[in-house]
Amino acid sequence: MASNGAVDSKTHKFNPHFTQAVINATGPKASPRVRQLTTSLIRHLHDFARENELTVDEWMAGVELMNEAGRMSDDRRNEGQLVCDIFGLESLVDEITYKLASDAADEPTATAILGPFWRKEAPLKSMGDTIVSGFDDKGDRTWMHGTVTDFLTGKPIEGAVLDVWHTAPNGLYEQQDPDQPDMNLRGRFTTGKDGKYNFYCLRPVPYPIPYDGPAGKILQALDRHPYRPAHIHFILTAPGYKPIITQIFDRNSKYIEDDAVFAVKDSLIVDFKPFQGDPKADFELPYDFKLATFEDAKKHSVAGTTEESAA
Ligand SMILES: [Fe+2]
Repeated sequence: MASNGAVDSKTHKFNPHFTQAVINATGPKASPRVRQLTTSLIRHLHDFARENELTVDEWMAGVELMNEAGRMSDDRRNEGQLVCDIFGLESLVDEITYKLASDAADEPTATAILGPFWRKEAPLKSMGDTIVSGFDDKGDRTWMHGTVTDFLTGKPIEGAVLDVWHTAPNGLYEQQDPDQPDMNLRGRFTTGKDGKYNFYCLRPVPYPIPYDGPAGKILQALDRHPYRPAHIHFILTAPGYKPIITQIFDRNSKYIEDDAVFAVKDSLIVDFKPFQGDPKADFELPYDFKLATFEDAKKHSVAGTTEESAA
């Protein structure tokens, strides 16, 4: 090897010392976790480029997609997250973070990706309220109810906050649709001593993820459709319990086996049951949520999953 790091091109197609030189540039004050992640990232990125003999044009096309995703993103749209979602990265990270050891007696409610449409500060509601503030004559009116319990003891959890959001019957979340009232089809409910919750919503419909940006371009290049099966999103938090981000999916929905962002899990598939006797609902949706305390989550989870700061 020459002193400038160059190597004989007859023995090596690419400089075999280059990747290690980039890794070695990390300074001593970098945290151990940052060092671990970036070392691995650099190795994989360089291997990817060498393995595919990535051209400058192809690399620049990727840079442009990232830049475009950044330009499109704001507090109402998260295009970078969407690009991760169509590559299955958010679902994979979700699985890695929340996977429980198989010896647990029961399992807490499975998690699913947050997705790009959650909004902070959804309206605080009382039990039995509706989250529908528009479109109520167009959708299938649904009464959802259940109990939030401790997954090990089965005891009801008081003070659990259930943050819920879903699409309107036109397939759009309220922030995508100027015709919907602000915060339509979103709400937060807090359980009492019995851990029970109930509210009115609509039966969701499948919808395409936004495909007018980089995520759409990638889907098109991959000959893939942009649709998600009908689902309702939740974040559950409770004092002393590990928060859960999840979604439940309508068993009869189109795309239930072909989700564009790979988020469906068997235990999260639910049945909307025809419902009579309530003038406010055409369907009933019973579903119980099971949470783990931070301590139990620590005992049963893989390492690094129980940051209390997540609460
Ligand atoms: Fe969604």
